[in-house]
Amino acid sequence: MNVKKKGLMTRVLHDGHQPDRETGSRAVPIYQTTSYAFRDCDHAANLFALKEPGYIYTRIMNPTTDVLEKRLASIHEAAGSLATASGMAAIFYSVTSITRAGQNIVSGSNLYGGTHTLFTHTLKRFGIEVRFVDSGDAENFARAIDRDTRLLFTESVGNPRCNIDDLEAIAKIAHAHDLPLIVDNTSTPPPIFNPFEWGADILVYSLTKMIGGHGTSIGGAIVEKGGFGWERGGKYPEITGPDPSYHDLNVWEAMDCEKKEQPDCPIFTLKARIGLLRDTGAALSPMNSFLFLQGLETLPLRAKVHVENALAVARHLETHPLVSWINYAGLPSHPDHERCLKMFPLGCGAVFGFGIKGGLTAGKKFIESVELCSHVANILDARTLVIHPAGTTHQQLSPGEQAEAGVTGDMIRISVGLEDVRDILDDLDQALEKSQKL
Ligand SMILES: Cc1ncc(COP(=O)(O)O)c(C=O)c1O
Repeated sequence: MNVKKKGLMTRVLHDGHQPDRETGSRAVPIYQTTSYAFRDCDHAANLFALKEPGYIYTRIMNPTTDVLEKRLASIHEAAGSLATASGMAAIFYSVTSITRAGQNIVSGSNLYGGTHTLFTHTLKRFGIEVRFVDSGDAENFARAIDRDTRLLFTESVGNPRCNIDDLEAIAKIAHAHDLPLIVDNTSTPPPIFNPFEWGADILVYSLTKMIGGHGTSIGGAIVEKGGFGWERGGKYPEITGPDPSYHDLNVWEAMDCEKKEQPDCPIFTLKARIGLLRDTGAALSPMNSFLFLQGLETLPLRAKVHVENALAVARHLETHPLVSWINYAGLPSHPDHERCLKMFPLGCGAVFGFGIKGGLTAGKKFIESVELCSHVANILDARTLVIHPAGTTHQQLSPGEQAEAGVTGDMIRISVGLEDVRDILDDLDQALEKSQKL
């Protein structure tokens, strides 16, 4: 059966796993093991030399994680996936798999604060320059590219500005320069959005968020579309060249990726697994892989309620007398609303910002007055979450960087959950009321 023809709900429930013959376990088993018994010495040697597929050690591969990776690839109709211990590890691996000291990447500036800090400070220590641009105009990416640029990066829906970039135009610019476009799709996983349909080449996820869905586990993933021309321009020896850490084995040639034009050749995720993951070890634990599989099984159902509730909350807040502004792209007042309608027919996620009359002081009072909503540093839990970005998630940014990322002192970020929407609105109303009593 062609897996690509099945519906999304079927894929999240079935792909990548069949009950095994020995036990018939219907749920995906948790293979809580560090290592795997070799049949004999030749078998062990072949596995280490990548001459035959199989499991060696859970830092690199694990059967529970393998199902998660296959399912993530399947829901995106992608060539491959690599699970990691966190979203940050996925972002770090996706960039450093193909970028080295002296090179640069071009990134939109409206990013999750942790990614902004990684790009500004930590990558700099490794000699990688990140050129931030206003991603609202795709041409800004073109202007920042030079011969040492190795990739373009942006988020599907910017956090917390809720901006929506013209991904198609950015992808065209990337491909015209033989560069891949990497998109952080954490806020809008399928069925909300599949950036591969808009030209992206690689996705990164914090699985911690809507995919896990219940606020229980930290994890991340890279998903690779396949079909990117890594050989063009000779820019990516990490992918297409001999690998000195495998006695100069050339995996690209061994897998015949070039000839196959590699639509099904998961070379990027494979090289990240046998290189960076092997050497730096941010592996997802089998237990967490299981929990993310549980989340995936209901993702399409939950995703729809998240976006429905978000729109209802956004409409309510927009007309509330104590709210001074709101930035949900699902509302006609947002500058990217047309793009939201075109690219996100279900709705553009469930995370957005709003300002409270009374500014910073009222904002703090609001956060401390919510009862149903939780004041936590997370988004896209099943529950509704609120936070004050300037004092927390974006605290490490300079005032100028905060302004670029759309973070203001009076901003509250809300991640709308799955509660009955009437109860969310009641809680917001009572907290808004209290925010004014100083
Ligand atoms: C858009 C986005 N990307 C990446 C991350 C980092 O993910 P993690 O916390 O799983 O490392 C986050 C975390 O909040 C995020 O919101």
